[in-house]
Amino acid sequence: MGGHMRGKVVLITGASSGIGAALAREVVQRGARPVLVARRSERLEELSRELENAGGKSLPVTCDIRKEGEIERAVGAAREVFGGIDVVVANAGFGVLGRVEALTLDDVQRQFETNVLGMMRTIQATLGDVRQSRGCLALVGSMSAYMPLPGFAAYNMSKAAVKALADTLRLELLRDGVAVLHVVPGLVHSELPKVDNHGVFDESRVDPVVRLRVPAQEAAREIVDAIAARRDEAVITRHGRVLAAMARYAPGLTGAALGMAAKRG
Ligand SMILES: NC(=O)c1ccc[n+]([C@@H]2O[C@H](COP(=O)([O-])OP(=O)(O)OC[C@H]3O[C@@H](n4cnc5c(N)ncnc54)[C@H](OP(=O)(O)O)[C@@H]3O)[C@@H](O)[C@H]2O)c1
Repeated sequence: MGGHMRGKVVLITGASSGIGAALAREVVQRGARPVLVARRSERLEELSRELENAGGKSLPVTCDIRKEGEIERAVGAAREVFGGIDVVVANAGFGVLGRVEALTLDDVQRQFETNVLGMMRTIQATLGDVRQSRGCLALVGSMSAYMPLPGFAAYNMSKAAVKALADTLRLELLRDGVAVLHVVPGLVHSELPKVDNHGVFDESRVDPVVRLRVPAQEAAREIVDAIAARRDEAVITRHGRVLAAMARYAPGLTGAALGMAAKRG
């Protein structure tokens, strides 16, 4: 599997923590060169130094995917330094929490600006490169597209949009030989539960399901395997695969179970 990644240039948005940082470590281990994209520069510089000490080359680029022109600048830097891009992992995202009655339209807009429009911008900025390399676009969605839990409407809607985008893009790019992977993580260790509704890291937030989460490095290994195998979808973690299968093959039963859990609060 590792041979498929050797020498490849992999642009990863959201590389400053969690799944994105783990992906950077994983692709370097397999001989690829990651372009590290996120807003927190110091984190990216630190990760880049760590990767260099491990014998890997990477390119840290500070970028806010919500801002016009920033991802385009990062892509330009990748072309200049590495000569092109083979794989794009559109992974940057966060979760806006709140029941529908409590959400403002601003909350929903903020959620979509990063998780959907930022992803769209990332894809549009890199499409020419992956077409040329006949590479891969990996779009990081969520189990919530299959199993939308109450209290997460903004996030659920954004991840349903990511699934729709991945499924559409795959068909549109079939003739170009570009693989489109929909990544569906279950519960993975990351900073996600500690990021507030404005997308800002807040150490004081508590993660009620921290014990159920699998290490980000394990998730990264599975994601990179799926990229190398040019798969259409990768449901990450064993519990995630069980839940996705339930939602797919027994939607009535799954709906009833969710309804019972919701009634109990
Ligand atoms: N962890 C899970 O259990 C889980 C489950 C399902 C789906 N996911 C999805 O997995 C993806 C990665 O999340 P994670 O769990 O690894 O959480 P995380 O540790 O909070 O990582 C999120 C990353 O996105 C970056 N980011 C956020 N807004 C950005 C922006 N406007 N521009 C550029 N980068 C931005 C953050 O970096 P900066 O703050 O430095 O910009 C950070 O590197 C997300 O799309 C998330 O929805 C995670």
